[in-house]
Amino acid sequence: MIADNLRDFLTQLERAGELARVERSVSVVLEISEIADRCMKAPRGGPALLFTKPGLAGGRSASMPVAINLFGSYRRMCLALGVERLDDVGARITELLTLKPPEGWREKLAMLPRLAELTKYPPRAVSGDVPCQHVVLKGGDIDLGSLPIITCWPEDGGPYITLPQVITRDPRSGVRNVGMYRVQVLERDRLAMHWQRHKVGAAHWRDMAARGEKMPVAIAMGGDPASIYAASAPLPPNIDEYLFAGFLRRKPVALAKAVTNDLQVPAEAEMVIEGYVDPAEPLVLEGPFGDHTGFYSLADYYPAVHVTAITMRGDPIYPTTIVGRPPMEDYYLGHATERIFLPLLKFTVPEIVDYHMPAPGIFHNLVFVSIDKQFPGQAWKVMNALWGMGLMSLAKVIVVLDKDVNVRDPDEAWWVALNHIDPERDIRFSMGPIDVLDHSSRAFTYGSKMGIDATTKWKEEGFDREWPGRIVMDEETKQRVDRMWGELGIRL
Ligand SMILES: Cc1cc2nc3c(=O)[nH]c(=O)nc-3n(C[C@H](O)[C@H](O)[C@H](O)COP(=O)(O)O)c2cc1C
Repeated sequence: MIADNLRDFLTQLERAGELARVERSVSVVLEISEIADRCMKAPRGGPALLFTKPGLAGGRSASMPVAINLFGSYRRMCLALGVERLDDVGARITELLTLKPPEGWREKLAMLPRLAELTKYPPRAVSGDVPCQHVVLKGGDIDLGSLPIITCWPEDGGPYITLPQVITRDPRSGVRNVGMYRVQVLERDRLAMHWQRHKVGAAHWRDMAARGEKMPVAIAMGGDPASIYAASAPLPPNIDEYLFAGFLRRKPVALAKAVTNDLQVPAEAEMVIEGYVDPAEPLVLEGPFGDHTGFYSLADYYPAVHVTAITMRGDPIYPTTIVGRPPMEDYYLGHATERIFLPLLKFTVPEIVDYHMPAPGIFHNLVFVSIDKQFPGQAWKVMNALWGMGLMSLAKVIVVLDKDVNVRDPDEAWWVALNHIDPERDIRFSMGPIDVLDHSSRAFTYGSKMGIDATTKWKEEGFDREWPGRIVMDEETKQRVDRMWGELGIRL
């Protein structure tokens, strides 16, 4: 069962021994970040944290607790999505994508509920008693400075909302997008919106600018954990994240009309900041910000959000996260995406067996892929396919290996890759879009990529020497040694 809202998720985490409460007063300026960082770097991601007495910048106490590191372990990520293993979600998607024509009425009948899964849980509109609108602040009552929005790192440009669901609408199709984009607090009622140029929210903004229209925006905090995760998932632009969250939850997400614009917001959220971006206005300086890469992102120009209302529960809990030198909480959100999207990658690139983006590679810097190689040049085909797919197009280094390599173990992947390559023959450079956060590319968001073909080389690929096998002990000897192990007096 996936929790319906953040407070239920916290209860679930507490019961599972995954939550630590901090009752002492701790400042939202750097202190929460330092404590959370120590936990995130602990074995298995440390505990989720609930700070019950956050102190605001001026020394005042905040009126609500702060939750952090909610998704920061394999276990918590599974609890968030209501599965035993993250691959279980992938298995559900694989079933949906297996489009074998049914044979006979039995198979036809069995297929019906499977197809219905796709559309069974669309978001549900609710009105009346909407939890996230129990308190409504407008006009002079709006003060972002009264919220426990944390300052993450010493050189950050200011306090940042870091775990939001940023809701916008495609002006052409009307399809909603929900993205997790950090938002910097500039003034009591003004924010800077860091949607990067490759992201869907930014595309909506460009479309609204072309039309010369003001763009409604809602920034939701909390709600059910599947919706929070879905905001970070790189879904195609025409798929509503709340529909996807409904699929994950096997239950619709309840949405209510925002108070000051016509977007819909998650009714079970803890808090929603409503507002608009005026594309006619000059951009504002956003950043610097201690980022996923472990380095500061330099300040740059982004649109301002004017806040028209802050709505919240009567007793809200403010969820947040920090990013920085890996491993951090975001690794587990990204890892869920890696596992959930494997069947979709396989759907278009069927030779892919598995893939992995290790934590130090910050998602876009390094992708290991294993393939079932059936013809010469296939590793290059796979790299080129990946560089043409959604946000995978931002991958800086792709290493392709044979199917017998466990790419989820970076030590094994590097060991095999470094043995298998003749660098001049097996490494190629390509060009393409580069992640906004990359500070080394020759130009902002444009630069080179490296593909490494670490598969076994074939004669048709110009390799005419013999390829050696891996060293593995024979089963009989292993079993003999197993039987004598107790008598050897060796402790490992
Ligand atoms: C904690 C966290 C913070 C993020 N911050 C940003 C950000 O500031 N800007 C951005 O464009 N993407 C950010 N991302 C990545 C996006 O959430 C991700 O690319 C997502 O797919 C974007 O949604 P979209 O595909 O609907 O645009 C962040 C991800 C996480 C997990």
